[in-house]
Amino acid sequence: MSAPAAAVDFTVLRANCAQQLDEQGYFAGAAWLRPLFQSVPREAFVPDGVWLEETDAHQRWIFLDRRQDTRAWANAVYAPHRPLITQLDDGRTPPTGPAAGDFTSSVSAPSVAVRMLRELNPHPACKVLEIGTGSGYNTALLAARCGPAHITSMEIDPQLADQARARLSQAGHHPAVIDGDGELGHPPGAPYDALISTASVYRIPPAWLHQLRPQGQLIAPLATPFGTDALLKLTADGSGGGTGRLVCALRFMRVRGQRRPEPWSTYGWPRLPGIAVAADGERQTITLTPETTSSVAPSGSRSVPPRRAVRSSKGD
Ligand SMILES: C[S@@+](CC[C@H](N)C(=O)[O-])C[C@H]1O[C@@H](n2cnc3c(N)ncnc32)[C@H](O)[C@@H]1O
Repeated sequence: MSAPAAAVDFTVLRANCAQQLDEQGYFAGAAWLRPLFQSVPREAFVPDGVWLEETDAHQRWIFLDRRQDTRAWANAVYAPHRPLITQLDDGRTPPTGPAAGDFTSSVSAPSVAVRMLRELNPHPACKVLEIGTGSGYNTALLAARCGPAHITSMEIDPQLADQARARLSQAGHHPAVIDGDGELGHPPGAPYDALISTASVYRIPPAWLHQLRPQGQLIAPLATPFGTDALLKLTADGSGGGTGRLVCALRFMRVRGQRRPEPWSTYGWPRLPGIAVAADGERQTITLTPETTSSVAPSGSRSVPPRRAVRSSKGD
């Protein structure tokens, strides 16, 4: 008779994941981040059935079911760079097996969640508005860092919001999870010290900057014409504007209201033929030259999300 499979030790998996992230520099300069990561049980926020961003022979997303193969599911939960897809087609495809469909919710990869938190650098008692609650995992990290009373998280899908509230409550966190369109922000809680979006945008919703206090921080994935999103970090000026920079490449699904993109030039991006490059011996200068005449829309401009991924590019 074969021995029963050893029970999965999530604490060990979490510690191993943290170790790998540490070795890859994800906690650099943020001593608070590794203990925070290790204090939140990611497995408590991942549904029993999830899809991977990999297809089977029939071009369906591979499905993992905790009840059928706990070890494979647990390993996926704690794979440092693996996002887990938790919803297809706004919930019209049931999470019961391999399936085709567009990604509409996910649990971000550990490396991406940590990278974004490191950039946000929220202090204890920092008042944060989060857009895109999803599973509630990132919300739990924020609540553990800042205190639940300081966190407001918005989710546009009411069923996902309900599930996240239940998971958060079971894990002992009670932040405000608001059903609603995060592009509008949440005026009752404004001004916020920081805003973090875990869904990407072509254009920063005006409410986000308006609802931040002066010097407040905004962290959001910004769609770019380069086949990836870029993590945008802005400091609000307190009157609806902000300045900052692009920090790193990653990929997220869009906020629902921005699934139908306009031509890149309307967002201020140059067309690729409009980017001037001067090669000068060893040195090269790249100049972004916006053009206003382009009618080229971002690829995949259709009614479904143009990007399937919530994945970070390697190394994020
Ligand atoms: C990548 S997932 C969020 C991942 C989440 N932080 C986690 O760790 O589980 C993006 C989420 O944003 C939500 N979303 C999309 N558009 C939204 C909007 N306008 N307002 C609020 N939530 C939105 C989606 O329903 C989805 O659950």
